[in-house]
Amino acid sequence: MAIHLLVASFWIGGMLFMILALSPYVRKLPHDVSVKAYQEVGKRYSLWGTVIGLPVLFLTGIYNMKTMGVSLSDLMNFSNPYAATLHHKIHLFFITVFLAVIHDFYIGPRSHLNKKFRITARIIGVLNLILGISIIYLAAKLRMGG
Ligand code: HEM
Repeated sequence: MAIHLLVASFWIGGMLFMILALSPYVRKLPHDVSVKAYQEVGKRYSLWGTVIGLPVLFLTGIYNMKTMGVSLSDLMNFSNPYAATLHHKIHLFFITVFLAVIHDFYIGPRSHLNKKFRITARIIGVLNLILGISIIYLAAKLRMGG
């Protein structure tokens, strides 16, 4: 559970930092400097957040699930409120992974090409933050029994 919490903190904290602290400053920099800053910081966050973090969250999440005695059939059949909440959490997780992969490996690396890519990258970034906050809400609900 500790590793799950640590990686969850990095995932959510990283997005909050990018959107609330880094982007407002980087956007004011000259275009070529801001492009380089976004690409460099984005690549590092993508490595630790998307490539390493998300798979670790899934594996430790499965471990937590087993520790809590929830079977795959419980999950698929919404057998109890806990399994139902976890089902929804995993659904949001898969959407998060899909958006993160699109953002980090297709849209993000092209965001310096034109305004459309830049705006799309920002929209996906904010969407994934909203999904992350929703996942945290469901995680807290799990703690309360689902
Ligand atoms: C972005 C992805 C995720 C985030 C941010 C996240 C966050 C969290 C947090 C903060 C907790 C602690 C809740 C608490 O103790 O109050 C937690 C617990 C848990 N997570 Fe995740 N999680 C993520 C993905 C997953 C996935 C993919 C699974 C399942 C495959 C999962 C399964 C669980 C389980 C079973 C618990 C234990 C809940 C309990 O009974 O206390 N999580 N998660």
